[in-house]
Amino acid sequence: MRYKKLLWVTGFMVFVGVCNAQTPVPRTEDAIRYRRAVMVMIKWHYDRLSLQTKGSIPFVREEAQRSTAWLEMLSQQATEGFVPGSQEGDTKALPSIWEQGAKFRALADRFRSDATKLNAIARTGGDAAALKAQMNEVTRTCKSCHDDFKKS
Ligand code: HEC
Repeated sequence: MRYKKLLWVTGFMVFVGVCNAQTPVPRTEDAIRYRRAVMVMIKWHYDRLSLQTKGSIPFVREEAQRSTAWLEMLSQQATEGFVPGSQEGDTKALPSIWEQGAKFRALADRFRSDATKLNAIARTGGDAAALKAQMNEVTRTCKSCHDDFKKS
């Protein structure tokens, strides 16, 4: 009786092992959803901040600081979901990301340092004009990366 139970347990464990082997983690579609979600959040804070620095909505220091803090944090996650083999699927990522990895990573690094600087300006009491100047740098980096690595 005990022996039979052991056989069942062993059989089940082998089955789980086989399933896991066939389902890579993270799955490609999860990686794509992750990186797109990060970009959506980046855009949210980028837009909120742009509207404030352009004067379309009132500049509220705490609000601006909240967005720059998020942008710095999200800039560190920007390349997380671009795992090898995830160029196919519900994505606008171009295969050049994996073919010219060094260039892609260099732009991601530039985005990280742009966003870090932006947040530093906000934390040290920078006004709308100072933030606007640094937002121009950020915008250039978004655009450079999208021009080379994203389908329009
Ligand atoms: C290092 C490269 C890189 C940088 C920097 C970058 N992006 Fe992206 N972005 C991409 C790629 C690649 C995609 C396509 C992702 C996909 O479809 O899988 C994308 C997608 C997007 C999307 C579409 C998201 C969706 O709905 O699927 C938005 C919005 C976006 N980026 C905004 C921004 C903004 C705003 C910035 C700058 C503040 C920025 N990105 C910086 C590479 C970059």
